[in-house]
Amino acid sequence: MLKLISASKIYDSSGVTALRRIDLHVARGDYVSVTGASGSGKSTLMHILGLLDTLSAGSYLLCGTDVSHLSPAALAARRASEIGFVFQQFQLLPGLTALENTALPLAIGGIPRSVRLARARAALLSVGLGDRMEHLPNALSGGQQQRVAIARAIITRPCVLLADEPTAGLDPVSAADVLALFDSLHECGHTIVLITHDPAAARRATRRLRLENGVLFNIQ
Ligand SMILES: Nc1ncnc2c1ncn2[C@@H]1O[C@H](COP(=O)(O)OP(=O)(O)OP(=O)(O)O)[C@@H](O)[C@H]1O
Ligand SMILES: [Mg+2]
Repeated sequence: MLKLISASKIYDSSGVTALRRIDLHVARGDYVSVTGASGSGKSTLMHILGLLDTLSAGSYLLCGTDVSHLSPAALAARRASEIGFVFQQFQLLPGLTALENTALPLAIGGIPRSVRLARARAALLSVGLGDRMEHLPNALSGGQQQRVAIARAIITRPCVLLADEPTAGLDPVSAADVLALFDSLHECGHTIVLITHDPAAARRATRRLRLENGVLFNIQ
């Protein structure tokens, strides 16, 4: 599903080599965690996998297509339909309800509003927020906001869910809820790449990887 072949990333602005000749294969239905010290390249890897940035060398195959050399417009189109992102900062729009935030990724597809909202309702139900659909983000707890963000990430039925430190800003109980949600999404067949500083969170994945100074290692 996702394949990096001898993938390297050098930031032109700083000259930093953030990823060094990485080989990675994530199959459909995998749940992969990536740990590593601050600055080891985790977010860079997520940006590459999520088509937010491009490689300096090597190749990236996404669902069988080499996306290493696509135009920015083509990358944006694939990103919108094939990637679901979850970030530490939930990045919900403050003026939209949970339901409207969740439906947002469908707005660019020409899907009728009634269908968009019906799918958003189903997504919010699947993350346990059936009773919070009309709430604005600031009327939700951090854990609830992150679950809205996860509902928004899965609403396009993406090939892969990429989560960068999704529990870092949450209290332990909310963090456990979010990790339990990832477990159930994995059980439902979602492919997940979880980037985390938390070893206990990383152990919940079925495959564990570690980045050290831009080099990727298998842990188990
Ligand atoms: N946009 C950028 N321009 C230049 N250098 C960058 C950029 N983003 C990251 N870097 C550098 O690349 C290296 C890897 O950064 P990255 O953000 O991927 O680390 P990280 O493992 O996600 O760290 P953290 O755990 O602190 O989030 C660091 O040395 C960082 O300074
Ligand atoms: Mg990071």
